[in-house]
Amino acid sequence: TSSRSVRQFDYLVLGSGIAGLSYALKVAEYGSVAIITKDYANEGCTQYAQGGVCAVLDAADSVDSHVEDTMVAGAFLNDRNAVEVVCREGPARVLELVRLGADFTRNNDGSLHLTREGGHTNRRIVHAADLTGREIERALLATARAHRNVTFFEHHLATELVVDEVSGQLHCFGVDVLDQHNAGMCRFLGLSTMLATGGAGQVYPSTTNPHVATGDGMAMAYRAGAAMSNMEFVQFHPTALYSPPGSAGNGGAAGAERTFLITEAVRGEGGLLFNMKGERFMPSYDPTRLELAPRDVVARAIQDQMLSHDNPHVWLDISHKPAAEVREHFPNIAARCSEQGIDITKDPIPVLPAQHYMCGGVAAGLRGETSVQGLFACGEVACSGLHGANRLASNSLLEGLVFADRAAGPSVAHAEYASRNCGRQLHYAAASADFSGPRAARPLAGPTAEWVAAKRAEVRSLMWETCGIVRRTAALQRAQAQLAAAYVEVKAVYKHYGVNTQLVELMNLVTVAELIVSCALQRRESRGLHYSADYPAAAAETAPSVISSSLKSRLD
Ligand code: FAD
Ligand code: SIN
Repeated sequence: TSSRSVRQFDYLVLGSGIAGLSYALKVAEYGSVAIITKDYANEGCTQYAQGGVCAVLDAADSVDSHVEDTMVAGAFLNDRNAVEVVCREGPARVLELVRLGADFTRNNDGSLHLTREGGHTNRRIVHAADLTGREIERALLATARAHRNVTFFEHHLATELVVDEVSGQLHCFGVDVLDQHNAGMCRFLGLSTMLATGGAGQVYPSTTNPHVATGDGMAMAYRAGAAMSNMEFVQFHPTALYSPPGSAGNGGAAGAERTFLITEAVRGEGGLLFNMKGERFMPSYDPTRLELAPRDVVARAIQDQMLSHDNPHVWLDISHKPAAEVREHFPNIAARCSEQGIDITKDPIPVLPAQHYMCGGVAAGLRGETSVQGLFACGEVACSGLHGANRLASNSLLEGLVFADRAAGPSVAHAEYASRNCGRQLHYAAASADFSGPRAARPLAGPTAEWVAAKRAEVRSLMWETCGIVRRTAALQRAQAQLAAAYVEVKAVYKHYGVNTQLVELMNLVTVAELIVSCALQRRESRGLHYSADYPAAAAETAPSVISSSLKSRLD
């Protein structure tokens, strides 16, 4: 093993979105931190977040009301303790962001402007016009880059967690990483490891998530033996921009990397939905909450309208509002739509649902702890219990902030424990870092690269057909069989080629797809985001889904 292939830090952070960066800033006060991230550091869902981040800051609002709204949206599958913790501690975390320099939209009197989104009974969404995520990512990145204890490793793809048993319990000691600059492998050892790799939108052909969202952290944690929870609850955002076939950013094209989102705040500020006959349809699906019903309700209504009228999209219209207000609140959306010839102050916007968010993930406790010692998880990769069967708008950025903060204390404590008690295992983990053989990186030859791209497209289409907004048991069973076969094929190619970004991502996508389908098959009811045409009612008794591997499916 060459010395370059093993690096040691006190804390490893996988991912540089809101969750990873917030956590890194907290633990950097106690030791050295490596932030390992697979693209440029700012690439990830965080920077595309539009609507905002929730916080109870208005005197007329209350933590109890935020708790209740979160539970209602989550169809009461939420862990109430997690919900209470997030709603209670959220405001302080958002104000911390302000202190770091995040420049949010303000009222004339200087107070933070609060907008509204579906499922919220009050105005409680802090935002930076319609570019909230970009501003948060900017502020966090600038602070983390300036911190003397933090080292960034950009274009470093984490491939596999390094785990070992200590007194009969699984412990994490680090991660194997592909340095995409030189296609070399290295092992990072850490006393505590935070998994903050975000979601898995790329499992579906149409998603608001960027290309990095391939579920790597979920698949790695599963292979390492961590318990996973609620994987069937995949959120489809009701309103992604529809682009006509053939145009750039086509909402429905299997190869499109990312579908542009039209923030829910457009409906929060009065936007209305119409079908292509010009009829406002939400009153017949949810007569009280209308366009501001939770996302699962609105997405199903839109899909129903599209299918029953055989239309490629519906319309979202905010043109009845004063043009200056619309332009001021939604400058990014106005600019993107105008590229498509749409003036949002005059024209309706063509929209359709697209995959948006994973409510499930690595099962994590109230302090970000997972079932593997020394491995913590926060942000979209984790299932903290906050969202239950459906996430309330703008609760995701907040979840990342709150659990990053809560995980810092136990991470520091674990690091102290590991440095005292795990010297032998760390030494072994360093000595066994052998990256010769099938793990050595090799570029894919032409036909194999084509095969990988085709297999990825096939898996994504399969997931949309069988495990989308409305599901059926027979189709899920077909998907399960096809995905198991795909896994065997992909693993064989992987064994032959060794570590390679496209292959690792494909392997992870197939694993995450299998987890989603398995959990969907386990759930014999309809609840929140999981709607089964075979079990259309909610069950009287229910519980979160839990799934874990027996450590038999590791990549090598
Ligand atoms: P991310 O921000 O996705 O970061 C994940 C990081 O992990 C990235 O740096 C990525 O490169 C890295 N990574 C992934 N795999 C690997 C690997 N194998 N090795 C190394 N690094 C890896 N939520 C809200 O609350 N409010 C909103 O207004 C809102 N709007 C949204 C709009 C859009 C278009 C999208 C896509 C999402 C939106 N969400 C919103 C959801 C929210 O943005 C995300 O859930 C949240 O930002 C996730 O943060 P994160 O830190 O967990 O992950
Ligand atoms: C949006 O702006 O509609 C997205 C908000 C969210 O995902 O929470």
